[in-house]
Order: sequence, then structure tokens, then C-alpha cells
Amino acid sequence: MWTKQQLQKTIQEKMSDYLLVVVSNRQPYSHVFKGGKVICQRQPGGLVTALNPVMQTVHGSWIALGTSSYDRSVLDSNQKVSVPPENPSYNLKRLFLSKQETDDYYYGYCNQGLWPLCHIAYTRPLFLAQDWAAYESVNQKFAQAILDEVGDRKAFVWVQDFHLALVGKYLREANRPNIITSIFWHVPWPNPEVFRICPQRKLILEGLLSYDLLGFQIRYHCDNFLAAVDQTLESRIDREKDIVSYQNHETMIRAFPISIDFQAIGEQAESGETQARWDKIAEDYYLRDKRLIVSIDRIDYTKGIPERLRAMDRFLEKNPDYKEKFVFFQLGQVSRIHVQRYKDLNDEINALVEEVNWKHSQGSWMPLIFTRSYMSYQDILALYRRSDICIVSSLHDGMNLVAKEFVASRPDLGGALILSQFTGAAREFTDAFLVNPYDSESFADTIQQALGASKEELEKRMRKMREVVEQQNIYRWAGKVLSQLLKFEFQET
Ligand code: G6P
Repeated sequence: MWTKQQLQKTIQEKMSDYLLVVVSNRQPYSHVFKGGKVICQRQPGGLVTALNPVMQTVHGSWIALGTSSYDRSVLDSNQKVSVPPENPSYNLKRLFLSKQETDDYYYGYCNQGLWPLCHIAYTRPLFLAQDWAAYESVNQKFAQAILDEVGDRKAFVWVQDFHLALVGKYLREANRPNIITSIFWHVPWPNPEVFRICPQRKLILEGLLSYDLLGFQIRYHCDNFLAAVDQTLESRIDREKDIVSYQNHETMIRAFPISIDFQAIGEQAESGETQARWDKIAEDYYLRDKRLIVSIDRIDYTKGIPERLRAMDRFLEKNPDYKEKFVFFQLGQVSRIHVQRYKDLNDEINALVEEVNWKHSQGSWMPLIFTRSYMSYQDILALYRRSDICIVSSLHDGMNLVAKEFVASRPDLGGALILSQFTGAAREFTDAFLVNPYDSESFADTIQQALGASKEELEKRMRKMREVVEQQNIYRWAGKVLSQLLKFEFQET
């Protein structure tokens, strides 16, 4: 089984000749002003968890966007700062965008174009020429920063996600044989009928086929990608080896399901600190003596939050006996709020919460608690650890790490996971209670089924899901990608 130590060792042995450069839109650490001084904060998310030990071992470079003047204030003349603060061992190089660039590249092409295109959640994608121009120029900026950073050294450049599809192409145009490139596409890749509406589809495919390795979450996304290539470009697709040859260049296409740090999350979820956080949360929100259903998401239309609230409504209509016996607690993290569709979604959610609570409330009891307040990671683990059910009902999701974190938080084998069949995670968690979030009727019945399940059944399901995440952990994900890229012998232990 892959562990943090094994990954570090493998990397040390095989990659010592290479400079590892990770490139992403979001940075792993940000600098903020707190308590009268500038401090360095680690950003949440699996990517930082996975790549921090790797980066610390190989003393690599991470290139990402800085956002605040505090981020800028700590940089040296090469725009770099050494991180993590407790053990400075790799460089974070920050790029900065103007407000206009952020509007057009991030809020525009990335989040109003590519995001709805890839997720197929019935939000119409918007492709504006100005947004595309910014997407190209920001990708070019990233590529230039990588070239400056690498110089003549042998380097392995690992780009993250849909914000940076074109970086590989600009690197290749610079004609540097010393650089091996890879991109991991964290979000789904849509079917060819959907993808073909994108006016820039050819350029995006050409961008992606400039990388040496292209990773997706699941095999289905690889197949969709290959079908899009087949329809759009004059290329040669070797389906046995999953290699595409285009313009004298070969790209390997592979599935690498992303994961979490199973061990660390389990330990943290069981800690006294998490217990103390739970006591506080339970008191603040009156959660004691009731069965608890939780959901935790960024407020995004792909996450199926209104659909979940409607299913709760239907569940209560069908099962009024459950009134006063449970609480549904939803933490919603505000996201991409400058985009109109996200503003509308927030309004829709507010109206629904109000309506469902009004309809079903009894005395001082209300079924739904919806909070947008900041909660720490420890708070979130406390919620996972103490809940009877965790619901993940995305309309479409590349993987969904909330599902995996919930499972890792349950060494006690308690709790049920209700999981949308349209998440990448559903491929691994066949022992979850799978739902179609568009079908309120069966969704409501599944809530009832999960609440009524025996302890033995829940333990059996949880044990199987835990075995999956324990094996397929985040260190294995990183190890698989790196070993594939370096084409060194891969040793599974
Ligand atoms: C998805 C994307 C990530 C992104 C995250 C949060 O998971 O795949 O690349 O970082 O959403 O979105 P944000 O726009 O806030 O970075």
C-alpha cells in the first residue's frame, strides 16, 4: 500500500535529476493579515495534501496565482517565497492578474465557459471572444513563468486542471526537450455531442495534446476525450496503448482517480480536539439528541443543493414521523459569486430553505440548518464523525472528495453515505446508497432507507468503502502519475 513515506522514498530515488514544477490556478499557501501581522496559511484541499510531501522531498517549485497585496509583500525579486512556513523547503512562485484578466480568464472562460461545458448540469456555457483571448494570454503567462523557472534544467512540469489547457502548447513551442509535461484534468470531460458546441474545441484539444501525459479521474472521461479527438482532429489514436499521436507528438491518456490522506483524516477525526469542536458545534446549533444528516459543498450548481433540499421536502411529506427526530445540516461555502448564475443559485437556495422549514417546522424544531459561516477543517471532520448520514448529491462531479473524506472520518464504521451516481467517486463506492439527484421520489426513499438501516448493514457498507480509500489513497494517486510519467518500473506493494 502506498504511504506518504513510500512516495517520498520513491520520488527521492527516481526523480533526483529532475526539477519538479507543479502549476495550478489556486496557490497552496496564501499570505493574509491576521492578529496585526502577515501570516502564511495553507489552503484546503487534497492537492496540497498530496503534493506537499512530494514538493518538500524534491525541493521543487510551485507556480500559481497570488491574490492579495500580502501575497505580494513577502516575495523576493524572482516573485518567490519559500514554503511551508514551518519547514521552508520548496519555492512558491506567484503570478498576478489584473481585475480585467481575472474577470475574463477566471470568471469568464474558465467558470462560465469550460466549467458548465464539462459538467453538463444544464447551465448554458458562455464563450466570449474576449474571455478566450484572456484565457490564452494567462496560459501564456504561466508558460513563460515555467520556462524562466526551469532554465536549462531537466524538469517535470505537472499542470493542474481546466484553467491551464494551453500551457503545454506554449511550452512545446519554446522547443525545450529538457521538459516533460503532464496535465491532470480534475473535472469531468463531456461526451462529444456536448463538447462540440465549444467554438475553441480544436485549440483546446491541440493544447491538451501538447502534453506528454494527460490524466483524467475515470476511464469514462478518457473515452469521451478520445471520442472528441477522433471527431475533431486528424490524429492517430492507439486504443491499445491509449496514446494519441498528433503533429509528431505522442500523448498518453490515463485515468488516475484522485483521493485523500486516509490515515491522517481518520486520526484527526478521532482526536480530542475534534471531539471538543463537536461539543461546541452541537451546542451552537442545538444538534444534540437528534439524528444528524450533513452535507458540505461549495455553493455551485453542479453540487445539486436545491435537488437535495427538494428531496428533504419529499422525505418529510412521506415520513412525517421523522419530524423533530433529525436535523439536516448543510454547510455551503460561498464560491464564484461574481458570476450571475451563482448569485441566482444562492437566492434559489435561500427561498427553498425558508419554504421547506416553514412547511415542516413543528414547535421550535426546523428540519434544515443552512449555514455559510466559516468552519475550520476540524469542524468539518467533527460533523462527518458525528453524523448519521452524509449526502453528496452532485449533478455531475469529476470525483468528489467530500465522499472520501466522510468515509475516512469513520474508523468507528458508523454512518451512511448517500452518493450521487453521477460522481466519479460512485465508481469506487459501490457500497454507498447511490441516488439519482434529479429523482426526488427515489432520493427521498433512499434517505428513509439509510435512516432505517441496521447497524450491521451500515458497518458492512462502511468497511468496504474504507478498504477502497485506504488502498486508493492520495499518495498512490501522486505515485501513479509520477511513475507513469517517468516511465520507471512501477512497484505495487
Ligand atoms: C473544482 C476544480 C478546482 C477548483 C475547485 C474550487 O474542484 O476542479 O480546480 O480549484 O473546484 O474552485 P475555485 O474556482 O474556487 O478554485
